[in-house]
Amino acid sequence: MIDLHCHLLPGVDDGSRSVEQSVRVLQTMAVAGITDVVLTPHLDASRISEGPPPAHDEAFAQLSMAAPPGVRLHRGAEVMLDRSLTPRAVATRRVTLAHSRYILVEFTRLVAEPMANQALSQVVREGLVPLLAHPERYSICSPALVASWRAMGVAIQVDANTVFMPTGRGARARALLAEGLADVLAADNHGDRRSLAEPFKALGALGGSTAAEFLMVRNPAAVLADQPLEPVPSFEVKVSLYQRIKGWVDEMGQ
Ligand SMILES: [Fe+2]
Repeated sequence: MIDLHCHLLPGVDDGSRSVEQSVRVLQTMAVAGITDVVLTPHLDASRISEGPPPAHDEAFAQLSMAAPPGVRLHRGAEVMLDRSLTPRAVATRRVTLAHSRYILVEFTRLVAEPMANQALSQVVREGLVPLLAHPERYSICSPALVASWRAMGVAIQVDANTVFMPTGRGARARALLAEGLADVLAADNHGDRRSLAEPFKALGALGGSTAAEFLMVRNPAAVLADQPLEPVPSFEVKVSLYQRIKGWVDEMGQ
């Protein structure tokens, strides 16, 4: 499996705090069969002139020396589209995923539809492919809107663990899978236990091993190789009524 989205570049954002913490997570991932991880620290588009700040280069060098064998590390970023990217940032591809045409992007949770449409279409016009991180987090997220983004040239990354959550966000994630609108699943690990391993097994157990293979192996590999993505077979994940009610109660209690 290949994980395109994690916050394991130590000490640079709200993810892992230290090299040791990142190494522990990477060891667990390697044992579970994750072969490649793209390090995607948060970066605001308004703060990128050409590439990531020097602190990220230093953190990457430190982690590369300590990382366990068996898992390859790649550079990337999760870019908050609060402004358009500079032409230099587009040209150098230093904030894209493994220097490919794919750039992991996000919005604030309450983003309005026109703003999201405009920002995504601008990235497409610049010749990059926006890989939109966790659209299920946004209240505007509907299968129809996500379908329109994909028609525009946007790729869609759903958070793997959210797919099994008995919550509104989980339901939005499952609706995207059910309509074949998700291109990639990623863990969005922040130095914690989130991994692709359990969702991969869980999808397989539900009869979705082909979809899992596209979402967690083939399409992430295509991103690393800067190749086009393949269509993912639609797959319906059912969550029981009991789990959903428990999820609503948990959400209200938060
Ligand atoms: Fe993230």
